[in-house]
Amino acid sequence: MTSAQVSGTEGYASEAEQLFQRYESIGAAENHRHVLHLIPKAPARVLDIGSGRDAAWFASFGHRVIAVEPTDALRIPAMARHPSPLIEWLDDSLPDLVRLRARGETFDLVMLTAVWMHLDQTQRQYAMPNLASLIGSGGTITMTIRHGPVPPARRMFEIPAEETIALAQAHGLRCVLNVASESRQERNRAAGITWTNLAFVKADASGSFSR
Ligand SMILES: C[S@@+](CC[C@H](N)C(=O)[O-])C[C@H]1O[C@@H](n2cnc3c(N)ncnc32)[C@H](O)[C@@H]1O
Repeated sequence: MTSAQVSGTEGYASEAEQLFQRYESIGAAENHRHVLHLIPKAPARVLDIGSGRDAAWFASFGHRVIAVEPTDALRIPAMARHPSPLIEWLDDSLPDLVRLRARGETFDLVMLTAVWMHLDQTQRQYAMPNLASLIGSGGTITMTIRHGPVPPARRMFEIPAEETIALAQAHGLRCVLNVASESRQERNRAAGITWTNLAFVKADASGSFSR
């Protein structure tokens, strides 16, 4: 299967050059200001799904990163821009994450920034248990979900925060963050785009939540 056929990636390859430059110009720390307190301080195992700039940001703190990105035209330049031995790039996709899950690894942090709204409801229902299986006990999943007008040729869905919170809860994940925010990018703010920032934690071995 070519990356152009991965559901959710519609519209990315044809605009990849401009999008890559734009995503690289966004400051990761500022972009993730709502979840900075949830990012492990000591070197940890991080999975970034729909990746790019953030893989390099995590690696700069000593985290080992698996960067999943199904769009070749975004993943290949990102690999060239961020050649770190701490980052492994993987051509894989939600909802199944077949290649990643075949490895049987778990992560301390799984991040999906501006990705979840590319999945339809059925795909989200398949994806959530897969995500839950990828974090160890005490692990965290963060998501940002975009709202507002959909760019031409892209595939996006309007997802209420409550739906994702209920879905996560059904798979043993407790919501620890639910914050609505404005867009940081001027052009997106002007277009009326807003964001939901969510984070979930998994119960530890004793069945309790560490946060
Ligand atoms: C808006 S971009 C965000 C990229 C990056 N997280 C950032 O914040 O700059 C959305 C990304 O999700 C990826 N994507 C789309 N559908 C996907 C799927 N089914 N599985 C994994 N990634 C997907 C796209 O290829 C694209 O890189």
